[in-house]
Amino acid sequence: MKKIVIDCDPGIDDALALALAAGCSDSLDLVGVTTVGGNVDLELTTANALALREFLRLGEVPVTPGSAGALLRHTVRATHVHGATGLGDVVLPAPERGPAEGHAVDYLVETLRAAPGEITLVAVGPLTNLALAVRREPRVVEWARDLVIMGGSYTRGNHNPAAEFNMLADPEAAAIVFEAGWTVTMLGLDVTLTAAVTSAVLDRMRPLGRLSELLVPAARSYGVVAEVSGPAVHDACAVAYVVDPSLFTCVPAVVNVETAGQFTRGMTVTDFKVGDRTANALVATAVDVPAFWDLVVGAYEKLAVR
Ligand code: BDR
Ligand code: CA
Repeated sequence: MKKIVIDCDPGIDDALALALAAGCSDSLDLVGVTTVGGNVDLELTTANALALREFLRLGEVPVTPGSAGALLRHTVRATHVHGATGLGDVVLPAPERGPAEGHAVDYLVETLRAAPGEITLVAVGPLTNLALAVRREPRVVEWARDLVIMGGSYTRGNHNPAAEFNMLADPEAAAIVFEAGWTVTMLGLDVTLTAAVTSAVLDRMRPLGRLSELLVPAARSYGVVAEVSGPAVHDACAVAYVVDPSLFTCVPAVVNVETAGQFTRGMTVTDFKVGDRTANALVATAVDVPAFWDLVVGAYEKLAVR
């Protein structure tokens, strides 16, 4: 059983990632969820995480709000992708319970301190909370079992030609996290864009009862679903990696985050020629797409009958 904490900004694909974690409860112990301002404002990412906790029946898993905005930069949001609420066309019942007391950065530091070597951090939003945790208590780097992020790319951006959204939203935070001394497993656009929701995948989500009320509009509101192409479920890739790393090909690399470039701010400059340097990242370069969907839909099926 792997213990994970998900730091997220729900976010349509964040919702699909949380649903995947919920469906994998036989192999994942979701210890906590922390939120960050990203796709939409912190108030909304937190409200969405709270609504998802109840809809996905995650029980007592604490949802702790964190940073509202980037360390230094002006705020960038992705409402053009995720809609005004952050969940696209998905409408969930209003949550009955509120967030945990305290701040996500304190929660991350104290949760890692209490269980050194046990907890895998899965970060699928801007890396502001993680960067502040590293600055506040550098030993989090030793205490975390692993750090898996959805973010960056070595080939292209999505928010602009150079930068992926989570990196662009807080490049300084991303640079701090990549330079902190741990190995960042980076699931970037290079692989996440290949794991698209095709019409065949969507057909497998339709019969899943009340869960389909989340999954189907989430998948659809994120792009056009077609026979051989469709919207990516970026953040679900990070959770899938933790459940079954063998689905992905990962290559050691030195990754530097551009923070100063006029046109390239937020770019994850990835050098696979590590030489005698120490790799600071394991970068995903391929995913077994049919096996990925078998894992994801299988987990959703289990959750649907729970
Ligand atoms: C990432 O950016 C966000 O819009 C998504 O939730 C995902 O984490 C994809 O670039
Ligand atoms: Ca996200």
